[in-house]
Amino acid sequence: MANIYDYPKYYDIAFSYRDTAEEAAVMQRAIDLYSYIPVKTILEVACGHSPHLQDMLRLGYSYCGLDLNPAMLAYAQEKAADLGHNITLFQGDLADFNLPEPVDFAYIMLGSLYVQTTEQLVSHFASAARAIKPGGLYFLDWCIDFSPLTNTRDAWTCRRDEIEVKVRYSTRLLHPAKQHYEETLSALVRDGKQRLHLNHTNIRRAIYPQEFMLAATYLNDFEFVGWWNDWDLSLPLDEVTRGIVRPITILRRR
Ligand SMILES: C[S@@+](CC[C@H](N)C(=O)[O-])C[C@H]1O[C@@H](n2cnc3c(N)ncnc32)[C@H](O)[C@@H]1O
Repeated sequence: MANIYDYPKYYDIAFSYRDTAEEAAVMQRAIDLYSYIPVKTILEVACGHSPHLQDMLRLGYSYCGLDLNPAMLAYAQEKAADLGHNITLFQGDLADFNLPEPVDFAYIMLGSLYVQTTEQLVSHFASAARAIKPGGLYFLDWCIDFSPLTNTRDAWTCRRDEIEVKVRYSTRLLHPAKQHYEETLSALVRDGKQRLHLNHTNIRRAIYPQEFMLAATYLNDFEFVGWWNDWDLSLPLDEVTRGIVRPITILRRR
């Protein structure tokens, strides 16, 4: 079955339930509140099709993205060209990367912190610390597992113009000691007369809150700024005991 990451247009529709303008505004507010440096250059880690690109360009930021998948990067580049902007994209692994110049702000969306081992987790934050200027923020959407892993299932449908994408997402616990679980994303696409089945399965490592702290703030050069529930900077997670949904976390480069 074809890989959904090789079909960025359909991937884009599958995750289009987000209000990217509102999310960009939250990131801007976080910068205003917590960044120690003015922000001009930004990096999206695991950028994929760069869903917030237009919103971030509109706010005046200069955009860089990092991703493993060439089809995603080509799609993002085309989107920027259509908007009349130059952006800089790097093909690389978030577990170990180097940028030619550090940026003022970095972000990672939808829990995309794909690592399989503790070494990769620590190395990711070392890479991120090299990539962000001192005083700059690293903004993480989800990425941390605030509850012990269980098997989960979810399903939703998104539409754009004549295209319908029915999505299924599931996780299956594989190895509790390694904190490994299998994540499967599949989509049924109806695009005019065409029907496509897309899929992506990978193994990833759960990241629990206090080991996240260790990797980012003890073993690497970040300080913890805070974490909040549901993309709401007025809802600190430390006051939430259940019902954690789409938490965001902010680190600042020391
Ligand atoms: C869940 S998507 C997120 C895409 C986009 N940032 C968004 O918000 O919709 C994950 C992206 O991570 C990329 N990816 C997966 N593993 C990666 C890795 N080790 N290094 C860099 N990118 C990776 C995939 O190619 C895919 O584009």
